[in-house]
Amino acid sequence: MRRFITASCLLLAGLLGQASMAWANEPIIIRFSHVVADSTPKGQGALLFQKLVHERLGGKVKVEVYPNSSLFGDADELAALQNNEVQILAPSMAKFSNLSPGVQVFDLPFLFDDQAAVERFERRPHGKALLLSMVDQNIVGLAFWHNGMKQLSSSRPLQKPSDAQNLTFRIQPSSVLEAQFHAVGANSARLPFSQLRDALINGKVHGAENPWSNIHSQQLDQLQPWITESNHGFLNYMLVTNPRFWYSLPYQTRSELEVIIDEVSWSVNQAAQKLNAHDRDRVLEAGKAQLVTLSAEERAAWRQAMRPVWRRFREQIGDELIQAAIRSNGI
Ligand code: LMR
Repeated sequence: MRRFITASCLLLAGLLGQASMAWANEPIIIRFSHVVADSTPKGQGALLFQKLVHERLGGKVKVEVYPNSSLFGDADELAALQNNEVQILAPSMAKFSNLSPGVQVFDLPFLFDDQAAVERFERRPHGKALLLSMVDQNIVGLAFWHNGMKQLSSSRPLQKPSDAQNLTFRIQPSSVLEAQFHAVGANSARLPFSQLRDALINGKVHGAENPWSNIHSQQLDQLQPWITESNHGFLNYMLVTNPRFWYSLPYQTRSELEVIIDEVSWSVNQAAQKLNAHDRDRVLEAGKAQLVTLSAEERAAWRQAMRPVWRRFREQIGDELIQAAIRSNGI
């Protein structure tokens, strides 16, 4: 009898051993889904992450990249992350509006002067804390990735705020952005990024707000005759994962992934400005859309028109957070 038990135990141990070895031999799959083109700062970042993981952790971890909403789109990607159907996303801040009110600070119009200010805010405690603000919803931020300053494209030239009156702009799912367009007498339609082109083609919307990289990669300049260089806001992303998945990874693997993410984030954020400048040049060279530039006084008028949005969201976002963001404009 004892011999039987010992033999059974050995068999079971052997089977379990085989099973865990089989598990250990399977590469860990990380699906990285996003909604923009490969050529954009986010698209390039996802591909660099895939490349570095392949070079340094090949065999142990495999990254699959799904650009252009090819796996999940704006409407379902966060739920897919929470359910572990996808393991990494980099949604723009507006997409977290319902999950973390503080994150809405990034969408307040004319708040950050430039990318350097956004970076200072993110490095300091108030900004950094936002990475952990959705942990109870099974989402944790790993890094901030930049795109660039947003410009207004439209069916007619927008020189002064009242020129936007009664136009409908496509917006991301955000009450702040809704209020921003409302402040200049315009309407807005919340639409997933993947529906933007169609909405412009079929006249559902007359305008949009995007950084140059998204304008160029979506060829919005072919659809919109005017682009106002308003620099009225900043499109920024949070690279997120699902903490249940992330903290189940073997410690060594997770640490190596985190080192890669730091390197990739640095590279994305270094390249973002250059890439947007390059895409701006390409749009202007193509000569389809006409550029509208704003004088200092005209830009001040847009700022003044949109500024009441800050007050309206002060309570929801938190005054301390807004003040911290304002301070980041100084050195
Ligand atoms: C948008 O929906 O306009 C952006 O968030 C798209 C993106 O990810 O750059």
